[in-house]
Amino acid sequence: MAGRNKLVAANWKMNGSRADNERWLQAFRAAPAHCETIVCPPYVYLQQIVQGLAGTAAGIGAQNVSERTAGAWTGQVAAEMLLDSGASWVIVGHSERRAACGESDDVVAAKFERAVAAGLRPILCVGETLAQREQGRTQQVVAMQLDAVLRRCPAAQLAAGAVAYEPVWAIGTGRTATPQQAQEVHAAIRSRLASQDPAAAAVTRVLYGGSVKPANAQELFSQPDIDGGLIGGASLVAADFLAICAAAAR
Ligand code: 13P
Repeated sequence: MAGRNKLVAANWKMNGSRADNERWLQAFRAAPAHCETIVCPPYVYLQQIVQGLAGTAAGIGAQNVSERTAGAWTGQVAAEMLLDSGASWVIVGHSERRAACGESDDVVAAKFERAVAAGLRPILCVGETLAQREQGRTQQVVAMQLDAVLRRCPAAQLAAGAVAYEPVWAIGTGRTATPQQAQEVHAAIRSRLASQDPAAAAVTRVLYGGSVKPANAQELFSQPDIDGGLIGGASLVAADFLAICAAAAR
């Protein structure tokens, strides 16, 4: 795992308020994280978080991006606007958007391509549902999600961002994949990337997401192909997020 620094990203989802965010920022600034970190607030708080994290090493990300260029697309936000607002990262293909907003593998791949074209670093989320896991289709589903992106973009562009393996059944459920279950899928993701570009695969960070907590982070992060985490619920509490970052730094 030479050359891959741990990365821990906070996905706040649709949570926060200006007052809550300010308290979070104060706690975060008081105890700098010891690994590379990214904070992904809702769009409307990007400016607040950019200002609040100025002077720290933390990166800023959005949670979604339009697959289209600027124009008459009511309610959508273009990749260039995110960059203009101070974001350098963006989450694409989160399972909550795949399920609730009907984002297909191809739409997710188009978002990925658009983000890269604009100069954003995408975090591509992949993962199977419980039914798919029980049918023994985990690796097939994840490979299809990955291949949709690889058809449009070379693997080196995934290395500039990150891949997040998020088993849908582990998100917000308190049920975490075991470190062995996660490692197995992370290794499969890396080998899929390696089949196209071994050098890119060796440096691409593959994050785990799904009920990561201070108590389970270190064991997950000690697996050879787990390069950090994408943290939902636990990232809303600055102390918990910092504890997870500390686990990544060990
Ligand atoms: P939880 O950490 O709340 O399970 O959410 C994980 C996730 O979806 C991060 O993107």
